[in-house]
Amino acid sequence: VRTILSRPGGGADLAGLRVPICGLVQTGRVQGKGAFAFLEVNDGSCAADLQVMVEATVADLSTLVPTGTCVHVVGMLKVPPKLGAKQKVELHVEEVLHVGALADPAKYPLPNTNHPKKKPTPEYLRDWTHLRPRIKEFAAVIRIRDELGEATRKFFREEHGFVHVDTGIITTSDCEGAGKMFQVTTLLRKDEKQEKELPLAASPAPAKIDYSKDFFGQAAYLSVSGQLHLETLACAGHKVFTVGPTFRAEQSHTSRHLAEFRMVEAEIPNADLEQDMKCAEAYVKYMCQWLLDKCHDDMQLMAEHDKGCIARLKLVASTPFIRLSYTEAVQLLEDAVKHGKKKFEKKVEWGIDLASEHERYLTEVIFQKPVIVYNYPKGIKAFYMRLNDDSKTVAAMDVLVPKVGELIGGSQREERYEVLQQRMLEMGLPLEPYEKYLDLRRYGTMKHAGFGLGFERMVLFSTGIDNIRDVIPFPRYPGRADL
Ligand code: 4AD
Ligand code: MG
Repeated sequence: VRTILSRPGGGADLAGLRVPICGLVQTGRVQGKGAFAFLEVNDGSCAADLQVMVEATVADLSTLVPTGTCVHVVGMLKVPPKLGAKQKVELHVEEVLHVGALADPAKYPLPNTNHPKKKPTPEYLRDWTHLRPRIKEFAAVIRIRDELGEATRKFFREEHGFVHVDTGIITTSDCEGAGKMFQVTTLLRKDEKQEKELPLAASPAPAKIDYSKDFFGQAAYLSVSGQLHLETLACAGHKVFTVGPTFRAEQSHTSRHLAEFRMVEAEIPNADLEQDMKCAEAYVKYMCQWLLDKCHDDMQLMAEHDKGCIARLKLVASTPFIRLSYTEAVQLLEDAVKHGKKKFEKKVEWGIDLASEHERYLTEVIFQKPVIVYNYPKGIKAFYMRLNDDSKTVAAMDVLVPKVGELIGGSQREERYEVLQQRMLEMGLPLEPYEKYLDLRRYGTMKHAGFGLGFERMVLFSTGIDNIRDVIPFPRYPGRADL
């Protein structure tokens, strides 16, 4: 359908062509006293449905019209007789190849999506994640997500020569040192253990380990970030990136947090904070331009809900981001409070972690564009960030954007062995689990920097959707991990 309707002239030049279509009926109505039916069929290729006309002489119309019925038909494209018709071509069915099981209209849990009055709420649809892909807006978000993934690969690999790396999902170390990890346990039964060992005879496993209890020989967790793994490559001189599933056991019931999300992480050898910020900004701009170039129709659909989303993409793609030190940012926020322009729930003072309300005030009210805040107090940032000469701040940066707040977190990494070790001790972190990380400094090292972008937050920002749970096919959050 996309191939047909995206042609100049809306596909009218294809009139006379015989084509097949297989998709789900969105709406169907029998007309002309039962002589024919009009079906709006969506085949998943784009937001638009194709109008399909079937005559009663070709098929039993009552089996075709219920919303949700799968139809596979072949027909002739024709220019609709009605002047000013929504589409420039419609399909006149000649043969019905297949009709899926009847979707009982009385039980169908989704309203007819072409009826604006009956639009299901996002909350309702979250209980129907398995049927949600049938909803036009959701399908458009999935395609936009896919395009952002494509833009990511193009930006890093083709435009900037990065190598894609798969980092470990199961790990023993806590990259952020924040203790927000899911522990991995096993459901292996004792009798299963014996079966599994036999094929491994060529490389025998240690005999005495009870894998049903202690599979890895130590506690293992789902990764909160691929950064430590990427750093092993960056310290060997490789420019690398990864798109990892990332897991955080945070009790965050917000519209910006998930327990499982994708993080796009880059690690750049021989780079400092300035180069890190430059790369992060270029990446976000590249994705915005990509959507403007490739996703015109799906973005138009998004604009029906959030009028400003396309203008936002244009702005971000074309104007430089604001750069602000943390100290300057706090000063601006304090001034806003002092002059009675804004009241924040969380008091602003030097040393606090900026909350979403502060980030959004900076990006939505003061600057109305993305802001990169850098040089944060060391007390609120992770152990691996490079200590600045003032000994109070670290070479960290966050990219903040309107509607979302923090989109990217990054830093120049502490490459000095003694300084890093000292900082970890100060923060009360055990050194033992990080010995291999420390080796990256112990045996010669390289200055390096990197960042991580919350992929769902990028989708949220691009589409203007309100809740992060609605931009991922299978959202995981406290209380929800089913299909
Ligand atoms: O700021 P964060 O925690 O940074 C890191 O994990 C670094 N190790 C990244 C790096 O330098 N390689 O997370 C990075 C980004 C955040 O800016 C945010 O956009 C997103 O990941 N993020 C989340 N997105 C959805 N749900 C959550 N619970 C998120 N936590 C972080
Ligand atoms: Mg962060």
